[in-house]
Amino acid sequence: MKHAAAVIATKPHVESPKSGIDHATRKDISGALGDILSSAYSLLVKTHVHHWNIVGPLFQQLHTMLEEQYETLFKSTDLYAERIRALGFPAPIPHVSVEQEARTMSAEQIVDDLLGDHETCVRAMRDTAIEAEGMGDIVTHDLLVAQMAWHEKTLWMLRAVVAKA
Ligand SMILES: [Fe+2]
Repeated sequence: MKHAAAVIATKPHVESPKSGIDHATRKDISGALGDILSSAYSLLVKTHVHHWNIVGPLFQQLHTMLEEQYETLFKSTDLYAERIRALGFPAPIPHVSVEQEARTMSAEQIVDDLLGDHETCVRAMRDTAIEAEGMGDIVTHDLLVAQMAWHEKTLWMLRAVVAKA
């Protein structure tokens, strides 16, 4: 009973997996992944808000497309947080920031808004992926590359929706 009480009182703490990556590198990569987690969460919330508020002839197409996107973004946030845990650190609380203007955008403004945010995400992810690979963290590199491929495909699809002659 005494043992059980001690076990349930255990709190998450910084761990030191002997996986071939030193502490400073794991901390550095975890910090960058925390920033990416916050960006992805912000984009997820913004995508959901756009899914709710979109109006006009593109409603059905974008309403459905954005639902697929926020569902994928939600899964990606879980991957980033769990990678931070695997690197030995407690998962951070994402900093979510979405401007109020997101509530009253036209369909064209929504797509432009999302294009900008996906591009910002991809650039940060590319920097961290390259940094992680250079530091020997090929697992984080591969995780980011897989998610980047989805962001870049999403960028193409969003561009296609508003493509002009
Ligand atoms: Fe919905």
